[in-house]
Amino acid sequence: MLILSACPFFPLSVVTGATDGIGKAYAEELARRGFAIILISRSQEKLDDVSKAIASKCGVETKTIAADFSAIDIYTKIEEGLTGLEIGVLGKSQTGDRLT
Ligand SMILES: NC(=O)c1ccc[n+]([C@@H]2O[C@H](COP(=O)([O-])OP(=O)(O)OC[C@H]3O[C@@H](n4cnc5c(N)ncnc54)[C@H](OP(=O)(O)O)[C@@H]3O)[C@@H](O)[C@H]2O)c1
Repeated sequence: MLILSACPFFPLSVVTGATDGIGKAYAEELARRGFAIILISRSQEKLDDVSKAIASKCGVETKTIAADFSAIDIYTKIEEGLTGLEIGVLGKSQTGDRLT
């Protein structure tokens, strides 16, 4: 909880595993606190649903990146999605294993 109030100048967060369980709850709580959210998980359909729900409920900007962390060729896509953005919080909660 401390970290959420410690980054007022970078009100943008990235959450992996953001479409279910702990990651989804994390994304919702960050959005409730005013963070714009970049959601990452595998299913674009689930990402679209969660992203729309968060944007409409909390009035924050959202962006999605579909990526499977069990694959090795995903990092260019993630880098392209994040380049130039000032990120205050990273929430890592996917069940895939390769993001360390
Ligand atoms: N729940 C608990 O009580 C608990 C306790 C301790 C630790 N954990 C750990 O916390 C993590 C999350 O648990 P959870 O219960 O929140 O899981 P969950 O409800 O199954 O949610 C997993 C999330 O990760 C995404 N995901 C799964 N595999 C992925 C992959 N290969 N690449 C990218 N995204 C992937 C899923 O979305 P898509 O299917 O769309 O990709 C979903 O958004 C797990 O590592 C779990 O072992 C959980």
